[in-house]
Amino acid sequence: FKLLLINGPNLNLLGIRETNLYGHNRLSTIISDLNKTADSLGIILNHFQSNAEHKLINRIHESYNNTDFIIINPAAFTHTSIALRDALLSVKIAFIEIHFSNIYKREKFRSHSYLSDIAIGVICGFGELGYHVSLRMAHQYLSKN
Ligand code: DQA
Repeated sequence: FKLLLINGPNLNLLGIRETNLYGHNRLSTIISDLNKTADSLGIILNHFQSNAEHKLINRIHESYNNTDFIIINPAAFTHTSIALRDALLSVKIAFIEIHFSNIYKREKFRSHSYLSDIAIGVICGFGELGYHVSLRMAHQYLSKN
């Protein structure tokens, strides 16, 4: 299976930004660990991180017809971006929404997501572990569908 992992704005600063919420590991470390999990599941994992909304949208468009599944942490765009929602609807690729922190126990404005109701599922509050679990979920979903 071919999977695309997308990380949104400020996630390039993992390990530096608010480590109480987002942990101490750098994004590069997390990605290399995830590649190990992906390998063990026979998944080809592509990763894309950007701070720019249009670049995230363009990457989603590029995945049309060549990607089986998307795992996306839209970061702050979760709470603002109708455009990201429309991009995911346009390419019709099943996806999981993921967050490091529990967005429901933070500021009120983080409790709304423009993506959750069109996602296969949502994982939040489990930090990096959630990413590994999302790979397993995606694998199970694709094996059944
Ligand atoms: C986040 C939660 C968002 O509310 C926030 O804007 C982020 C990261 C998370 O992974 O917990 O940048 O998506």
